[in-house]
Amino acid sequence: MINALRGMKDTLSPQSEVYQYIIETCTRIAQNYGFSLIETPILEETALFKRSVGESSDIVGKENVPITDKGGNDVCLRPEGTAGVVRAFIQQKFDKAGGTRRFFYHGPMFRYERPQKGRLRQFHQFGVESFGESDVREDATIILMLKAIFDALGIAYTLEINSLGCPACMPKYRTTLVDFLATREGLCEDCERRKLTNPIRVLDCKNEHCKTLLADAPLIVDHLCFTCKEDFGTLKTILDEFGVAYTINPKLVRGLDYYSKTAFEFVSADIGAQSAIAGGGRYDRLVEFLDGKPTPGIGFAMGIERLMDLVKMPQTSRNGYYIGALCNEALSVVFELVDTKRRESKVLTTYEAKSLKNHLKIADKNEAKFCVCIGEDELANNTIG
Ligand code: HAM
Repeated sequence: MINALRGMKDTLSPQSEVYQYIIETCTRIAQNYGFSLIETPILEETALFKRSVGESSDIVGKENVPITDKGGNDVCLRPEGTAGVVRAFIQQKFDKAGGTRRFFYHGPMFRYERPQKGRLRQFHQFGVESFGESDVREDATIILMLKAIFDALGIAYTLEINSLGCPACMPKYRTTLVDFLATREGLCEDCERRKLTNPIRVLDCKNEHCKTLLADAPLIVDHLCFTCKEDFGTLKTILDEFGVAYTINPKLVRGLDYYSKTAFEFVSADIGAQSAIAGGGRYDRLVEFLDGKPTPGIGFAMGIERLMDLVKMPQTSRNGYYIGALCNEALSVVFELVDTKRRESKVLTTYEAKSLKNHLKIADKNEAKFCVCIGEDELANNTIG
């Protein structure tokens, strides 16, 4: 027997209905906020992710799913959606055209992680990316949109926010942090690597010994430039005014290298260790990192599988028809009737004549609103239509 690969799974009814409901809800809300669907390929050049998400990130450095295609190109399964959307944005020359563009997407992502509850090697994200707005109100809007989605899905969450600074303040802070790290011995292997590649990533190390060593590390929130401080202040004020509860987590650095300024994560207390249900932030330099004209950007992605256990599904009522034949002679009439009725409603059937009791059982199991059974009498009376 061949099973699905480790960390990958099939989604069937009734879970697939939950999946569909999440996508439909997110799509409706994203469209209300002016976002339109973008589809990008699942396979991209590995260089795209190295230059955006960053080689120091786990998802590119350690969890990449590489493939050499028949042309000998170094390609890989996308670990996330932002890089592909940015590539498409530049490829369409939207960076040169200017203005604001907003996209949403959903689909499978691949990270070769150690599978556990809530952590898959193939999982699905719903995400949005907004280009061309540098105003912090866009950051607030993105967070309010996520709140609207979670409220609509009946999901409880806590929100953590941080500011990661900009080219005016981050490099100076980084030097301060690197100097501090030079005084700390015994950091884990990952942190030793991050010290050289992306030092701020040491701040969210989960290793208990590292946490102790880094307890009094300098924090970016204390080293923000005037503009970053002001924008972060405005963001907090808007969230307060709109009744969005949040905590400031000065060690929230996110696992991907492209962020600047606003970074945020929505966390659920109800799904165990893998508790991040959505994350995102601003990436004002990413378009230029990928050779585009500098364009501010911000977005988020949420993990659909992590939401599936949390969603409160609306009560569904019985709907549609179940039509069955009581004798073999009625099978072709049933076939015709089913085809006609399907133009206006959901219709289920079986291509086997059964007793009334058996048909009623199937109709009930499938939650049909109406059960129509055709037998010799109906054929003789011609009462079908
Ligand atoms: P991320 O935080 O890496 O951000 O992933 C977003 C969400 O995907 C997480 O909060 C989590 O719910 C889900 N997720 C991540 N890894 C797994 C996994 N192995 N199994 C199940 N679910 C998972 C990004 O991907 C960024 N592209 C978000 C973004 C968009 N930033 C700006 N724009």
